[in-house]
Amino acid sequence: MDSSLAEVDQELFDLIEKEKYRQLSTIELIPSENFTSRAVMDCLGSCLANQYTESISYRRYYGETRVDPIQNLCQTRALKAYRLDKNEWGVIVESYSGSLANFQIFATLLKPHDKIMGLNITAGGHLSHGCIIPKKTNQKVVFYESVSYGLDPSTGTVDYDNLEKTARLICPKIIIAGASAYPRDYDYGRFKAISKEVGAIFMVDMAHYCGLVSSQLVNDPFLHADIVTTTTYKTMRGPRGALIFYRKSFEEKVSTMISPSIQGGGHNNSIAGIATQLRELETNEYKDYSRKVIENCKIIGETLIGLGYTLLSGGTDTHLLLWDLRPQGLTGNKMEKICEAAKINVSKYAVPGDTSSLILGGIRIGSPAMTTRGATSEDFKKIAHFLHRALNIALEIQADPMIGPNDFDNAVAQNPKVQQLKDQVHDFSIQFRMPGTDVLFMRNANLE
Ligand SMILES: Cc1ncc(COP(=O)(O)O)c(C=O)c1O
Repeated sequence: MDSSLAEVDQELFDLIEKEKYRQLSTIELIPSENFTSRAVMDCLGSCLANQYTESISYRRYYGETRVDPIQNLCQTRALKAYRLDKNEWGVIVESYSGSLANFQIFATLLKPHDKIMGLNITAGGHLSHGCIIPKKTNQKVVFYESVSYGLDPSTGTVDYDNLEKTARLICPKIIIAGASAYPRDYDYGRFKAISKEVGAIFMVDMAHYCGLVSSQLVNDPFLHADIVTTTTYKTMRGPRGALIFYRKSFEEKVSTMISPSIQGGGHNNSIAGIATQLRELETNEYKDYSRKVIENCKIIGETLIGLGYTLLSGGTDTHLLLWDLRPQGLTGNKMEKICEAAKINVSKYAVPGDTSSLILGGIRIGSPAMTTRGATSEDFKKIAHFLHRALNIALEIQADPMIGPNDFDNAVAQNPKVQQLKDQVHDFSIQFRMPGTDVLFMRNANLE
Protein backbone atom coordinates (compact mmCIF):
# COMPACT_ATOMS: atom_id res chain seq x y z
CA MET A 1 0.00 0.00 0.00
CA ASP A 2 2.90 2.39 0.57
CA SER A 3 4.65 1.67 -2.69
CA SER A 4 5.51 4.43 -5.12
CA LEU A 5 3.61 5.02 -8.35
CA ALA A 6 6.53 3.60 -10.36
CA GLU A 7 6.24 0.37 -8.36
CA VAL A 8 2.49 -0.10 -8.44
CA ASP A 9 1.51 1.35 -11.79
CA GLN A 10 4.28 1.39 -14.36
CA GLU A 11 1.86 2.16 -17.19
CA LEU A 12 0.59 5.38 -15.64
CA PHE A 13 4.04 6.30 -14.34
CA ASP A 14 5.40 6.11 -17.90
CA LEU A 15 2.60 8.31 -19.19
CA ILE A 16 3.38 10.94 -16.56
CA GLU A 17 7.10 10.76 -17.39
CA LYS A 18 6.27 11.36 -21.05
CA GLU A 19 4.14 14.34 -20.15
CA LYS A 20 6.96 15.71 -18.00
CA TYR A 21 9.34 15.37 -20.92
CA ARG A 22 6.86 17.07 -23.24
CA GLN A 23 6.60 20.00 -20.83
CA LEU A 24 10.39 20.24 -20.56
CA SER A 25 11.10 20.06 -24.28
CA THR A 26 8.27 22.27 -25.58
CA ILE A 27 8.02 26.05 -25.83
CA GLU A 28 4.82 26.65 -23.88
CA LEU A 29 3.01 29.74 -25.16
CA ILE A 30 -0.56 29.02 -24.11
CA PRO A 31 -1.33 32.02 -21.88
CA SER A 32 -3.27 30.02 -19.28
CA GLU A 33 -0.44 27.52 -18.72
CA ASN A 34 2.21 27.87 -16.06
CA PHE A 35 4.62 25.92 -13.86
CA THR A 36 3.75 25.88 -10.20
CA SER A 37 6.30 25.65 -7.39
CA ARG A 38 7.60 22.71 -5.38
CA ALA A 39 5.84 24.16 -2.30
CA VAL A 40 2.48 24.02 -4.11
CA MET A 41 3.23 20.50 -5.35
CA ASP A 42 4.00 19.49 -1.74
CA CYS A 43 0.57 20.72 -0.66
CA LEU A 44 -1.16 18.84 -3.49
CA GLY A 45 0.50 15.57 -2.52
CA SER A 46 0.05 16.05 1.24
CA CYS A 47 -2.24 14.33 3.79
CA LEU A 48 -4.82 17.03 3.06
CA ALA A 49 -5.83 14.92 0.07
CA ASN A 50 -7.43 12.60 2.67
CA GLN A 51 -9.63 15.13 4.42
CA TYR A 52 -13.25 15.67 3.38
CA THR A 53 -14.93 18.81 4.64
CA GLU A 54 -18.59 19.50 4.05
CA SER A 55 -19.68 23.10 3.46
CA ILE A 56 -17.38 26.07 4.09
CA SER A 57 -15.06 26.67 7.05
CA TYR A 58 -16.64 27.22 10.45
CA ARG A 59 -20.10 26.34 9.06
CA ARG A 60 -19.59 22.57 8.91
CA TYR A 61 -22.36 20.00 9.03
CA TYR A 62 -19.85 17.56 10.52
CA GLY A 63 -18.57 20.01 13.12
CA GLU A 64 -15.35 21.92 12.82
CA THR A 65 -12.33 20.16 11.46
CA ARG A 66 -8.60 20.59 11.77
CA VAL A 67 -8.43 22.01 8.27
CA ASP A 68 -10.57 25.03 9.08
CA PRO A 69 -7.47 27.06 10.06
CA ILE A 70 -5.95 26.17 6.67
CA GLN A 71 -9.00 27.41 4.79
CA ASN A 72 -9.04 30.50 7.00
CA LEU A 73 -5.38 31.18 6.31
CA CYS A 74 -6.16 30.92 2.61
CA GLN A 75 -8.99 33.45 2.98
CA THR A 76 -6.81 35.88 4.95
CA ARG A 77 -4.02 35.63 2.40
CA ALA A 78 -6.44 36.06 -0.52
CA LEU A 79 -7.77 39.30 0.95
CA LYS A 80 -4.21 40.48 1.67
CA ALA A 81 -2.92 39.65 -1.81
CA TYR A 82 -5.56 41.99 -3.26
CA ARG A 83 -5.31 44.61 -0.48
CA LEU A 84 -8.94 44.10 0.62
CA ASP A 85 -10.51 45.15 3.92
CA LYS A 86 -12.18 42.17 5.60
CA ASN A 87 -15.05 44.40 6.69
CA GLU A 88 -15.87 45.17 3.05
CA TRP A 89 -14.98 41.97 1.21
CA GLY A 90 -15.32 38.24 1.79
CA VAL A 91 -13.81 35.38 -0.19
CA ILE A 92 -14.74 31.78 -0.86
CA VAL A 93 -11.75 29.51 -1.41
CA GLU A 94 -13.51 26.17 -1.89
CA SER A 95 -14.80 26.48 -5.46
CA TYR A 96 -13.30 23.76 -7.68
CA SER A 97 -12.64 25.75 -10.84
CA GLY A 98 -13.17 29.03 -12.66
CA SER A 99 -16.16 27.94 -14.73
CA LEU A 100 -17.90 26.50 -11.70
CA ALA A 101 -17.18 29.67 -9.70
CA ASN A 102 -18.89 31.73 -12.40
CA PHE A 103 -21.84 29.36 -12.57
CA GLN A 104 -22.10 29.42 -8.77
CA ILE A 105 -22.46 33.20 -8.86
CA PHE A 106 -25.10 33.06 -11.61
CA ALA A 107 -27.04 30.32 -9.84
CA THR A 108 -26.91 32.29 -6.62
CA LEU A 109 -27.75 35.78 -7.85
CA LEU A 110 -29.97 35.24 -10.91
CA LYS A 111 -33.53 34.11 -11.35
CA PRO A 112 -34.36 31.83 -14.31
CA HIS A 113 -34.21 33.78 -17.60
CA ASP A 114 -32.49 36.80 -16.12
CA LYS A 115 -30.02 38.29 -18.57
CA ILE A 116 -26.25 38.52 -18.32
CA MET A 117 -23.76 40.32 -20.53
CA GLY A 118 -20.20 39.12 -21.15
CA LEU A 119 -17.68 39.64 -23.93
CA ASN A 120 -18.50 37.73 -27.11
CA ILE A 121 -16.49 34.56 -27.63
CA THR A 122 -15.16 35.72 -31.00
CA ALA A 123 -13.83 38.80 -29.21
CA GLY A 124 -12.02 36.71 -26.59
CA GLY A 125 -14.82 36.07 -24.08
CA HIS A 126 -15.09 32.87 -22.06
CA LEU A 127 -17.83 30.27 -22.51
CA SER A 128 -18.67 30.32 -18.82
CA HIS A 129 -19.85 33.93 -19.23
CA GLY A 130 -22.76 32.59 -21.22
CA CYS A 131 -21.20 33.54 -24.54
CA ILE A 132 -23.25 32.95 -27.62
CA ILE A 133 -21.20 30.75 -29.92
CA PRO A 134 -22.03 29.78 -33.46
CA LYS A 135 -24.28 26.73 -33.86
CA LYS A 136 -22.94 23.15 -33.81
CA THR A 137 -20.96 23.53 -30.59
CA ASN A 138 -23.67 25.65 -29.00
CA GLN A 139 -24.86 24.45 -25.62
CA LYS A 140 -28.26 25.71 -24.64
CA VAL A 141 -28.07 27.96 -21.62
CA VAL A 142 -31.17 26.95 -19.69
CA PHE A 143 -30.77 28.95 -16.51
CA TYR A 144 -30.28 32.46 -17.81
CA GLU A 145 -30.16 34.39 -21.04
CA SER A 146 -27.01 35.86 -22.44
CA VAL A 147 -26.50 38.87 -24.69
CA SER A 148 -22.86 39.47 -25.42
CA TYR A 149 -21.04 42.73 -26.12
CA GLY A 150 -18.17 43.11 -28.57
CA LEU A 151 -15.16 45.11 -29.65
CA ASP A 152 -14.85 48.35 -31.54
CA PRO A 153 -13.44 47.12 -34.88
CA SER A 154 -11.40 50.30 -35.34
CA THR A 155 -9.43 49.84 -32.10
CA GLY A 156 -9.88 46.18 -31.17
CA THR A 157 -10.87 47.27 -27.65
CA VAL A 158 -14.17 46.87 -25.79
CA ASP A 159 -16.92 48.91 -27.44
CA TYR A 160 -18.18 50.61 -24.28
CA ASP A 161 -20.70 52.81 -26.12
CA ASN A 162 -22.37 49.84 -27.71
CA LEU A 163 -22.26 47.92 -24.44
CA GLU A 164 -24.03 50.87 -22.79
CA LYS A 165 -26.71 51.05 -25.50
CA THR A 166 -27.41 47.30 -25.32
CA ALA A 167 -27.43 47.29 -21.53
CA ARG A 168 -30.00 50.12 -21.48
CA LEU A 169 -32.15 48.11 -23.86
CA ILE A 170 -32.06 44.68 -22.24
CA CYS A 171 -31.42 45.57 -18.56
CA PRO A 172 -29.08 42.69 -17.65
CA LYS A 173 -28.84 41.53 -14.04
CA ILE A 174 -25.10 40.93 -14.28
CA ILE A 175 -22.47 42.61 -16.49
CA ILE A 176 -19.14 40.77 -16.68
CA ALA A 177 -15.70 42.14 -17.48
CA GLY A 178 -12.73 39.83 -18.00
CA ALA A 179 -12.01 37.35 -20.79
CA SER A 180 -9.74 34.59 -22.06
CA ALA A 181 -8.22 36.28 -25.07
CA TYR A 182 -8.37 40.03 -24.62
CA PRO A 183 -4.91 41.63 -24.64
CA ARG A 184 -5.87 45.06 -23.30
CA ASP A 185 -6.67 46.45 -19.87
CA TYR A 186 -10.25 47.32 -18.85
CA ASP A 187 -11.99 50.56 -17.93
CA TYR A 188 -13.71 49.18 -14.83
CA GLY A 189 -15.05 52.62 -13.91
CA ARG A 190 -17.02 52.72 -17.16
CA PHE A 191 -18.30 49.16 -16.62
CA LYS A 192 -19.44 50.10 -13.13
CA ALA A 193 -21.17 53.29 -14.29
CA ILE A 194 -23.11 51.32 -16.94
CA SER A 195 -23.99 48.59 -14.44
CA LYS A 196 -25.20 51.13 -11.91
CA GLU A 197 -27.36 52.92 -14.45
CA VAL A 198 -29.18 49.73 -15.49
CA GLY A 199 -29.29 48.18 -12.00
CA ALA A 200 -26.88 45.33 -12.79
CA ILE A 201 -24.36 43.63 -10.55
CA PHE A 202 -20.86 44.29 -11.86
CA MET A 203 -18.77 41.13 -11.88
CA VAL A 204 -15.14 40.74 -12.99
CA ASP A 205 -13.61 37.40 -13.95
CA MET A 206 -9.88 38.10 -13.66
CA ALA A 207 -8.92 34.44 -14.16
CA HIS A 208 -6.27 35.23 -16.75
CA TYR A 209 -4.56 38.28 -15.29
CA CYS A 210 -5.12 37.66 -11.55
CA GLY A 211 -1.38 37.66 -10.90
CA LEU A 212 -0.93 40.99 -12.67
CA VAL A 213 -3.70 42.54 -10.55
CA SER A 214 -2.02 41.35 -7.37
CA SER A 215 1.30 42.84 -8.54
CA GLN A 216 -0.53 46.12 -9.35
CA LEU A 217 0.58 46.15 -12.99
CA VAL A 218 -2.92 46.45 -14.47
CA ASN A 219 -6.05 48.32 -13.34
CA ASP A 220 -7.58 47.16 -10.07
CA PRO A 221 -11.04 45.57 -10.61
CA PHE A 222 -11.76 45.60 -6.86
CA LEU A 223 -12.16 49.40 -6.90
CA HIS A 224 -15.42 49.04 -8.85
CA ALA A 225 -16.63 45.42 -8.89
CA ASP A 226 -19.33 43.84 -6.72
CA ILE A 227 -18.07 40.29 -7.34
CA VAL A 228 -14.65 39.13 -8.56
CA THR A 229 -13.96 35.53 -9.59
CA THR A 230 -10.62 34.09 -10.55
CA THR A 231 -8.83 30.86 -11.23
CA THR A 232 -5.69 30.25 -9.18
CA TYR A 233 -3.39 28.85 -11.85
CA LYS A 234 -2.69 30.87 -15.08
CA THR A 235 -0.73 34.04 -14.15
CA MET A 236 -1.19 33.34 -10.42
CA ARG A 237 0.91 30.18 -10.88
CA GLY A 238 -0.89 28.19 -8.18
CA PRO A 239 -2.77 24.89 -8.33
CA ARG A 240 -6.09 24.27 -10.12
CA GLY A 241 -8.88 26.00 -8.21
CA ALA A 242 -10.80 29.25 -7.96
CA LEU A 243 -11.57 32.14 -5.63
CA ILE A 244 -14.82 34.07 -5.37
CA PHE A 245 -14.53 37.53 -3.84
CA TYR A 246 -17.77 39.32 -2.92
CA ARG A 247 -18.71 42.59 -1.30
CA LYS A 248 -20.11 41.97 2.17
CA SER A 249 -23.65 42.91 1.07
CA PHE A 250 -23.70 39.63 -0.92
CA GLU A 251 -22.33 37.48 1.90
CA GLU A 252 -25.50 35.83 3.12
CA LYS A 253 -26.65 34.66 -0.32
CA VAL A 254 -23.24 33.74 -1.72
CA SER A 255 -21.82 31.87 1.24
CA THR A 256 -24.92 29.80 1.96
CA MET A 257 -25.73 28.92 -1.64
CA ILE A 258 -22.34 27.90 -2.96
CA SER A 259 -21.57 25.12 -0.55
CA PRO A 260 -23.28 22.81 0.20
CA SER A 261 -26.03 23.74 -2.29
CA ILE A 262 -24.00 23.81 -5.52
CA GLN A 263 -20.95 21.76 -4.58
CA GLY A 264 -19.81 19.43 -1.82
CA GLY A 265 -16.56 19.53 0.10
CA GLY A 266 -13.65 21.67 -1.03
CA HIS A 267 -10.40 20.07 -2.17
CA ASN A 268 -8.28 20.76 0.88
CA ASN A 269 -4.94 19.89 -0.69
CA SER A 270 -5.65 22.40 -3.44
CA ILE A 271 -6.81 25.05 -0.96
CA ALA A 272 -3.49 24.66 0.91
CA GLY A 273 -1.67 25.01 -2.43
CA ILE A 274 -3.63 28.18 -3.17
CA ALA A 275 -2.75 29.52 0.31
CA THR A 276 0.96 28.98 -0.22
CA GLN A 277 0.82 30.54 -3.68
CA LEU A 278 -1.03 33.59 -2.30
CA ARG A 279 1.90 33.99 0.09
CA GLU A 280 4.28 33.92 -2.86
CA LEU A 281 2.30 36.74 -4.52
CA GLU A 282 3.51 39.03 -1.73
CA THR A 283 7.18 38.49 -2.55
CA ASN A 284 9.36 40.84 -4.58
CA GLU A 285 10.40 37.85 -6.66
CA TYR A 286 6.82 37.27 -7.77
CA LYS A 287 6.20 40.98 -8.49
CA ASP A 288 9.37 40.98 -10.57
CA TYR A 289 8.10 37.87 -12.37
CA SER A 290 4.81 39.65 -13.19
CA ARG A 291 6.69 42.63 -14.60
CA LYS A 292 8.76 40.32 -16.80
CA VAL A 293 5.63 38.50 -18.00
CA ILE A 294 4.28 41.76 -19.44
CA GLU A 295 7.68 42.86 -20.77
CA ASN A 296 8.25 39.52 -22.51
CA CYS A 297 4.79 39.55 -24.04
CA LYS A 298 5.42 43.03 -25.41
CA ILE A 299 8.78 41.88 -26.81
CA ILE A 300 7.26 38.95 -28.66
CA GLY A 301 4.52 41.26 -30.01
CA GLU A 302 6.97 43.95 -31.13
CA THR A 303 9.17 41.34 -32.82
CA LEU A 304 6.18 39.93 -34.73
CA ILE A 305 5.08 43.43 -35.76
CA GLY A 306 8.66 44.11 -36.89
CA LEU A 307 8.41 41.03 -39.09
CA GLY A 308 5.32 42.53 -40.73
CA TYR A 309 2.55 40.72 -38.85
CA THR A 310 -0.72 41.99 -37.42
CA LEU A 311 -1.77 41.87 -33.79
CA LEU A 312 -5.34 42.46 -32.74
CA SER A 313 -5.59 45.87 -31.06
CA GLY A 314 -2.02 46.48 -32.24
CA GLY A 315 -0.32 45.02 -29.17
CA THR A 316 -0.81 44.08 -25.54
CA ASP A 317 -1.01 45.48 -22.00
CA THR A 318 -0.92 42.06 -20.41
CA HIS A 319 0.45 38.51 -20.55
CA LEU A 320 -1.16 37.57 -23.87
CA LEU A 321 -1.56 38.72 -27.41
CA LEU A 322 -3.63 37.75 -30.42
CA TRP A 323 -1.98 37.26 -33.76
CA ASP A 324 -4.33 37.83 -36.66
CA LEU A 325 -3.24 35.43 -39.42
CA ARG A 326 -5.81 36.48 -42.00
CA PRO A 327 -3.45 38.90 -43.79
CA GLN A 328 -1.12 35.91 -44.41
CA GLY A 329 -4.00 33.75 -45.66
CA LEU A 330 -3.36 31.05 -43.05
CA THR A 331 -5.86 29.75 -40.50
CA GLY A 332 -5.14 29.55 -36.80
CA ASN A 333 -5.89 25.82 -37.11
CA LYS A 334 -2.97 25.30 -39.53
CA MET A 335 -0.63 27.49 -37.51
CA GLU A 336 -1.50 25.57 -34.34
CA LYS A 337 -0.88 22.29 -36.14
CA ILE A 338 2.54 23.21 -37.52
CA CYS A 339 3.61 24.71 -34.19
CA GLU A 340 2.55 21.55 -32.39
CA ALA A 341 4.65 19.49 -34.80
CA ALA A 342 7.60 21.79 -34.04
CA LYS A 343 7.07 21.53 -30.25
CA ILE A 344 5.66 25.03 -29.83
CA ASN A 345 2.40 25.12 -27.93
CA VAL A 346 -0.04 27.84 -29.06
CA SER A 347 -3.82 27.87 -29.31
CA LYS A 348 -5.88 28.73 -32.35
CA TYR A 349 -8.33 31.46 -31.53
CA ALA A 350 -11.26 33.29 -33.01
CA VAL A 351 -10.69 36.78 -34.34
CA PRO A 352 -13.49 39.29 -34.93
CA GLY A 353 -15.23 38.46 -38.19
CA ASP A 354 -14.78 34.68 -37.92
CA THR A 355 -18.00 32.99 -38.91
CA SER A 356 -17.14 29.43 -37.93
CA SER A 357 -16.35 28.20 -34.43
CA LEU A 358 -14.19 25.46 -35.97
CA ILE A 359 -12.02 27.38 -38.46
CA LEU A 360 -10.38 30.24 -36.63
CA GLY A 361 -8.45 33.21 -37.95
CA GLY A 362 -5.78 33.70 -35.33
CA ILE A 363 -3.65 32.30 -32.56
CA ARG A 364 -3.27 33.29 -28.95
CA ILE A 365 0.20 33.58 -27.46
CA GLY A 366 1.20 34.15 -23.85
CA SER A 367 4.37 34.65 -21.84
CA PRO A 368 3.65 33.37 -18.27
CA ALA A 369 4.94 29.80 -18.59
CA MET A 370 8.23 30.49 -20.37
CA THR A 371 8.90 33.47 -18.10
CA THR A 372 8.52 31.14 -15.10
CA ARG A 373 11.03 28.83 -16.75
CA GLY A 374 13.52 31.72 -16.91
CA ALA A 375 13.26 32.83 -20.56
CA THR A 376 14.54 36.41 -20.98
CA SER A 377 13.54 39.12 -23.43
CA GLU A 378 16.29 37.88 -25.80
CA ASP A 379 14.82 34.37 -25.59
CA PHE A 380 11.38 35.75 -26.41
CA LYS A 381 12.79 37.40 -29.54
CA LYS A 382 14.12 33.98 -30.56
CA ILE A 383 10.70 32.49 -29.87
CA ALA A 384 9.10 35.07 -32.18
CA HIS A 385 11.55 34.04 -34.90
CA PHE A 386 10.69 30.35 -34.38
CA LEU A 387 7.03 31.28 -34.92
CA HIS A 388 7.95 33.26 -38.04
CA ARG A 389 9.74 30.20 -39.45
CA ALA A 390 6.83 27.91 -38.60
CA LEU A 391 4.43 30.24 -40.40
CA ASN A 392 6.60 30.39 -43.51
CA ILE A 393 6.88 26.60 -43.69
CA ALA A 394 3.08 26.38 -43.31
CA LEU A 395 2.63 28.83 -46.19
CA GLU A 396 5.02 26.79 -48.38
CA ILE A 397 3.10 23.59 -47.66
CA GLN A 398 -0.23 25.33 -48.29
CA ALA A 399 1.00 26.72 -51.62
CA ASP A 400 2.30 23.35 -52.87
CA PRO A 401 -0.07 22.25 -55.70
CA MET A 402 0.78 18.59 -55.00
CA ILE A 403 -0.64 18.81 -51.48
CA GLY A 404 -4.41 18.71 -51.27
CA PRO A 405 -6.39 20.73 -48.70
CA ASN A 406 -6.94 17.62 -46.56
CA ASP A 407 -3.29 16.54 -46.64
CA PHE A 408 -1.88 19.50 -44.71
CA ASP A 409 -1.40 17.55 -41.44
CA ASN A 410 0.41 14.67 -43.18
CA ALA A 411 2.58 17.06 -45.13
CA VAL A 412 3.54 18.85 -41.91
CA ALA A 413 4.46 15.56 -40.25
CA GLN A 414 6.75 14.61 -43.13
CA ASN A 415 8.31 17.98 -43.87
CA PRO A 416 12.10 18.05 -43.21
CA LYS A 417 12.05 21.78 -42.38
CA VAL A 418 9.50 21.09 -39.65
CA GLN A 419 11.74 18.34 -38.28
CA GLN A 420 14.72 20.71 -38.29
CA LEU A 421 12.73 23.41 -36.50
CA LYS A 422 11.48 20.84 -33.98
CA ASP A 423 15.04 19.77 -33.15
CA GLN A 424 16.11 23.37 -32.61
CA VAL A 425 13.06 24.13 -30.48
CA HIS A 426 13.77 21.02 -28.42
CA ASP A 427 17.37 22.07 -27.75
CA PHE A 428 16.23 25.61 -26.94
CA SER A 429 13.52 24.48 -24.57
CA ILE A 430 15.37 21.91 -22.49
CA GLN A 431 17.90 24.51 -21.33
CA PHE A 432 15.28 26.18 -19.13
CA ARG A 433 14.51 25.00 -15.61
CA MET A 434 11.17 23.43 -14.79
CA PRO A 435 10.18 24.56 -11.27
CA GLY A 436 8.28 22.21 -9.00
CA THR A 437 9.26 19.07 -10.85
CA ASP A 438 12.08 16.62 -10.54
CA VAL A 439 13.33 16.40 -14.12
CA LEU A 440 15.39 13.25 -13.82
CA PHE A 441 14.07 10.61 -16.17
CA MET A 442 14.25 6.82 -16.04
CA ARG A 443 17.18 5.72 -18.16
CA ASN A 444 16.30 4.07 -21.47
CA ALA A 445 12.71 5.30 -21.29
CA ASN A 446 11.08 6.15 -24.60
CA LEU A 447 9.90 9.65 -23.81
CA GLU A 448 8.71 10.91 -27.18
C1 LIG B 1 -11.73 34.07 -18.15
C2 LIG B 1 -11.83 32.62 -17.75
N1 LIG B 1 -12.73 32.28 -16.80
C3 LIG B 1 -12.88 31.00 -16.42
C4 LIG B 1 -12.11 29.99 -16.96
C5 LIG B 1 -12.38 28.56 -16.60
O1 LIG B 1 -11.58 28.06 -15.65
P1 LIG B 1 -11.62 26.49 -15.30
O2 LIG B 1 -11.03 25.78 -16.45
O3 LIG B 1 -10.80 26.43 -14.05
O4 LIG B 1 -13.03 26.10 -15.07
C6 LIG B 1 -11.16 30.30 -17.92
C7 LIG B 1 -10.32 29.21 -18.48
O5 LIG B 1 -9.56 29.28 -19.34
C8 LIG B 1 -11.02 31.64 -18.34
O6 LIG B 1 -10.16 31.98 -19.30
